[in-house]
Formats: sequence, structure tokens, C-alpha cells
Amino acid sequence: MNLTYQEKIKKASQLIKNSNYTVAFTGAGISTESGIPDFRSPGGLWQRFRIVTYQEFIYDRQAREEFWRMKKELIHHLTNAKPNNAHIALAELEKKGFIKHVITQNIDGLHQMAGSKSVIELHGNQRGAICLDCEKLYKMDEILKMLEEQLNLRCYDCGGIIKPTVVFFGEPMPEKELIMAQQIANQCDLMLVIGTSLQVEPAASIPRIAHTRGAKLIFINKAETDWDWMAEIVFYGSASQVLKDIAI
Ligand code: APR
Repeated sequence: MNLTYQEKIKKASQLIKNSNYTVAFTGAGISTESGIPDFRSPGGLWQRFRIVTYQEFIYDRQAREEFWRMKKELIHHLTNAKPNNAHIALAELEKKGFIKHVITQNIDGLHQMAGSKSVIELHGNQRGAICLDCEKLYKMDEILKMLEEQLNLRCYDCGGIIKPTVVFFGEPMPEKELIMAQQIANQCDLMLVIGTSLQVEPAASIPRIAHTRGAKLIFINKAETDWDWMAEIVFYGSASQVLKDIAI
């Protein structure tokens, strides 16, 4: 039976109110309304830039410079971005005790900026960078200054390769965060899946774990995904509008 938009909103609010353990799982789509492009939508990043894998970044200077050239262009989007109504709505729901955690694939830090306290970052963050040899940490504004000079960033102390604290394709996932996300997916009874195409593993397995464990899923996404069949309710629309309308 096809529910109207208002009927879906009412049902979603009811599910959240009746839930004992709700969590949110987010992707790049939740931040597009903050001016940060996502990856796979028309005009998305992977249509403009080539994916540089972890192995390439380590062993291929040209690929490394290509990566930093992309980063240099994106950093301005990331550093100037502000949370939108979707981030704010999730932080509000957490403050009111309706949401326990936000599991995110995003590196932009906008959930924390909106006030969310329990945020699990599966793909790292854009707050800094690290030397792969001596593990010296660099803040993003230091990196920005270095990028003004050149693209082959080397550690001031040991000359080692500097890598941003984001997770590359081909790089092992941060173990602590992945285990936490899996544990939460095993325990939750409701998961809001927001702004993600669910095409990247193992992150995309988190909603599947929750579904397999009997949790209900609510999808909020502009486009269809291969996993919409798992959802109790699917909203094809703007994350900030739908979450604003759901607000309890
Ligand atoms: N509201 C709701 N959904 C939106 C909005 C919006 N305002 N804007 C975009 N979307 C949807 C798109 O339709 C798309 O299905 O969000 C989804 C974003 O999907 P991707 O671009 O594939 O991003 P994501 O799923 O987060 O990518 C996962 O892939 O490239 C890697 O490491 C990167 O963490 C990222 C991972």
C-alpha cells in the first residue's frame, strides 16, 4: 500500500518514538545541502576526479600529487561548510534521547559541528594528516600552507610521506570504529539510513547487519539504492526537508 508523504512522516515519527534504540547511518548525501558535493550523483566527485587508491598513494608520486590536487580544490568546500537542517535535526533527536549514535561515512565533521555527541567516523576525518614514517600529526591549516608551495607533501621532521587521516580505497578500515558500528547495528531496533548510495563496503554492510537482526530501516535518499527493499519506509527526497518534517 503506497503511503502519502504525510502518512510516511507520521509513521516515521511513530517508529522513532516507539523505538528503544535508534541510530542514524549517513553518507555524503546528507552534506550536499551544505555545499559539499557527493561522490556518485550527476556532477559528483568521482565524475570529476579519478579514485587514487591507498597503494597508488604510497608508491606513485604522480598519483599522490593528483590526489593532493583534488584535495586542494575540495578543502575549501569542506572548511567553509556549515551543518544543514538534516545534521541539526539528528543532533536535536540525540539531545532529546531519541537517537543514540550517528554512524557516518563522511569526513566533514558536520555532525559534530551540529552538536551530535556520539559520532562514529568509518572513513576517517579531514581534520588533519599524518606522516606515514614518524607518525607526526599535521593540522589541516598546516597542510593548506604546504599545498600552496607544492603537491608532493613530505614530513618536515623525517621526509616521510604525509597522508590525510581519511580512509582510502584499499586501506584497512579503522578497526575500533568498524567494530563499534557492527555492535551498534546488532543492537539497534531502528536505523535511519540517510544520503548514501550504499555502494562501498564494508560500510554498506552496517544497515544490512541491522536488517538481518530484525531492526526496522527508514531510508532518506534522493535516488534509489539497491537496498531499498530492506526499508520499512523510503523517502526519495531531500534529507534536510524530510528530517525537518519528521522532527519530534
Ligand atoms: N538528500 C538526500 N539524499 C541525497 C542528497 C540530499 N540532499 N544529495 C544526494 N543524495 C543522495 C544521492 O542520490 C546518492 O544516492 O546521497 C547519495 C550519495 O551517495 P554517494 O555519492 O555514493 O556517497 P556515499 O554513499 O556516502 O559514498 C560512500 O564512497 O567515495 C567513497 O569514501 C567515500 O564515504 C564515501 C563512500
